[in-house]
Amino acid sequence: MTEGPVGRPVAELDTPALLIDLPAFERNLAAMRDLAARAGIAYRPHAKAHKSPVVAGLQQAHGARGVCCAKLGEAEALADGGVADVLITGEVVGAPKLRRLVALARRARVAVVADHPDGVAALSGAATSAGITLDVLVEVDVGQGRCGTPPGAPAVALAERVARSPGLRFRGFQGYHGAIQMLADFGRRAAEVRAAAARLGETAEAARKAGLPVEVLTGGGTGTAALDVAAGVLTELQPGSYVFMDTNYAAIAWDQAGAPPPFARALSVRATVVSRPARERAVVDAGLKALSSDGGLPAPKDAPGAAFAFGGDEHGILRFDGACPLDLGAQVELYPSHCDTTVNLHDRFFAVRGGVVEAVWEITGRGRTQ
Ligand SMILES: Cc1ncc(COP(=O)(O)O)c(C=O)c1O
Repeated sequence: MTEGPVGRPVAELDTPALLIDLPAFERNLAAMRDLAARAGIAYRPHAKAHKSPVVAGLQQAHGARGVCCAKLGEAEALADGGVADVLITGEVVGAPKLRRLVALARRARVAVVADHPDGVAALSGAATSAGITLDVLVEVDVGQGRCGTPPGAPAVALAERVARSPGLRFRGFQGYHGAIQMLADFGRRAAEVRAAAARLGETAEAARKAGLPVEVLTGGGTGTAALDVAAGVLTELQPGSYVFMDTNYAAIAWDQAGAPPPFARALSVRATVVSRPARERAVVDAGLKALSSDGGLPAPKDAPGAAFAFGGDEHGILRFDGACPLDLGAQVELYPSHCDTTVNLHDRFFAVRGGVVEAVWEITGRGRTQ
């Protein structure tokens, strides 16, 4: 029988391995719970950050109301893992997905967004043929210029269409502005949040005047969470990255005085030195297949004076200011620049406390891009 890693020192893990620093992770869970509780607002964490039913369960144990999923496939994976309440925050389009959506809605509480009359008609057709009722939120473009109807009259018209479509129940509006989450400058981020909140708030007001019940106004993310609650429009926050953080998020100013965010970096990739070809240089076994590059370069955790560069798919290069202190076979940890896309590269998390692996959690939603 092969011995598992649980209860063993982290240094015995084979690499590359994706680690969760449990004390930091637990502080993050508690910090978002407290932020939402203080504001008296619900939060529905975005599972695109972790793609794991275990992490979703821990978020719910910290008061979260269900989870968000970016993709239907992620939602299926989480529902398979016991998550009972899911909002799919991206439009679900096309017959194969609609078949899966109604099947999912039979075994979990599912809500979905729509931003086009044809999409609403297709959702209505799928729901009525399946004999179910689907919860639908109209997505409003509050400034990002990605998906979503324009705010105001067009969004209200679409909401009215949802409300009168058989098989659909209109629940409210989603207004998420991803482009402002990481604005490093606090003042600019605050102004953009107020503008986005005003667009969503005016839309909700107009819908209510038109006689529509607007139960849910959902949106926001890690970088804007405190500003979102201050703006007072959302009924539900959708933060994702706060559970793990990453080097990009860790760099933003949390307030006017430039304080760091109240969430710590809890995710790292552990790698092994596989080559020591020069005095100042070590090569590790984590490259583009272990660490995402869309957010920039990862940062070495405990290697002062070292700079990381990608050395290809399988290799990372650590260049030191002077002599490299790492021997062949030594292990290092690297903080990802973007947690969501790095998690998507791994099969499992190794949850670590005090240098010992405490648990292994499968990332069942990884790669579920459909
Ligand atoms: C619709 C939606 N809501 C919330 C989030 C969460 O964002 P963050 O990870 O920045 O907290 C995302 C992230 O991309 C998103 O797409």
